[in-house]
Amino acid sequence: MICSPPKSHDCIVLSNKRLSENSIYLTRLHCPDIAQNSSSGQFVNIKVSNELSPLLRRPFSICKVDKAEGWFEVLWQIVGRGTTLMAGYKVDDVINIIGPLGHGFHIKSGIESAILVGGGLGIAPLPFLCQDILEKSSANIAVYVGVRTKADLAMAELFNDFDINIIQCTEDGSAGIQGYVTKPLIEKLASKSSVPPVLFSCGPEVFLKRMVDISSEFDVEGQISVESVMGCGFGICVGCPVEVQDYAEGERKYKLTCIDGPVFDSREVLLVG
Ligand SMILES: Cc1cc2nc3c(=O)[nH]c(=O)nc-3n(C[C@H](O)[C@H](O)[C@H](O)COP(=O)(O)OP(=O)(O)OC[C@H]3O[C@@H](n4cnc5c(N)ncnc54)[C@H](O)[C@@H]3O)c2cc1C
Ligand code: FES
Repeated sequence: MICSPPKSHDCIVLSNKRLSENSIYLTRLHCPDIAQNSSSGQFVNIKVSNELSPLLRRPFSICKVDKAEGWFEVLWQIVGRGTTLMAGYKVDDVINIIGPLGHGFHIKSGIESAILVGGGLGIAPLPFLCQDILEKSSANIAVYVGVRTKADLAMAELFNDFDINIIQCTEDGSAGIQGYVTKPLIEKLASKSSVPPVLFSCGPEVFLKRMVDISSEFDVEGQISVESVMGCGFGICVGCPVEVQDYAEGERKYKLTCIDGPVFDSREVLLVG
């Protein structure tokens, strides 16, 4: 399916805060249209500079929204040219953004238990997901946050507004539980102490592959948000293929991350990690 170009918006920077010494930022942008029409798991495609270069927009998950105040936030880390430019954003700068884009998380009615698992910057779409689940259900929610080191746990503060259980892990053991976030998650699932949860996860491919295996091992529903290098963000350039398997028919084919995803059923996507 090819989509017609979605609307672009001139969004005003309300704040641009550095959250951690590891160059992680939280940017709040005023745009009532995006705030009111987005759902969790969707993303925006940001024209990072008003200059010609870099030409391609950069995709970022919508991290939080306030529909009443008309803003949304993106959580991101400096990794290259575009994000270095974004670090220079000042209050009242006007940034051109396309969105909301993509197919987000599916929250089924009557959901009783949700476990949200974020690996590193994969935490980005989870505060909005938390907001969404709490608005649509009375589900019990636990969030598992896995980062390299203590400084990056600043991202976990984005869940402070919610009355939920937060499990924090660092790979180097500098705070929280030492090791990969999958360790306490597996212990929780093995204890079978609660109703079967839906596992929602986002993070690097190798982590998502592990989450796919865990969903299958414990026979629980999983939804994963995958990343791919993107061009247009709305199905025109065909630059973001992901290999999937139709689990009912067993047939392999390609879908586009930007319009069919970024959120997929964990049984569907064939990850290489
Ligand atoms: C749907 C989607 C949602 C995303 N959400 C977030 C988010 O919420 N927060 C966040 O920090 N990042 C997110 N990303 C990744 C983000 O888009 C890239 O980090 C950003 O485009 C890098 O831009 P740059 O110009 O700074 O880096 P570049 O100079 O373009 O590249 C620097 C390095 O980053 C790698 N890179 C670039 N784009 C991607 C990508 N899409 N996936 C993986 N590696 C990439 C390049 O291979 C290179 O090694 C998301 C990506 C997608 C596809
Ligand atoms: S980014 Fe262009 S088709 Fe997906």
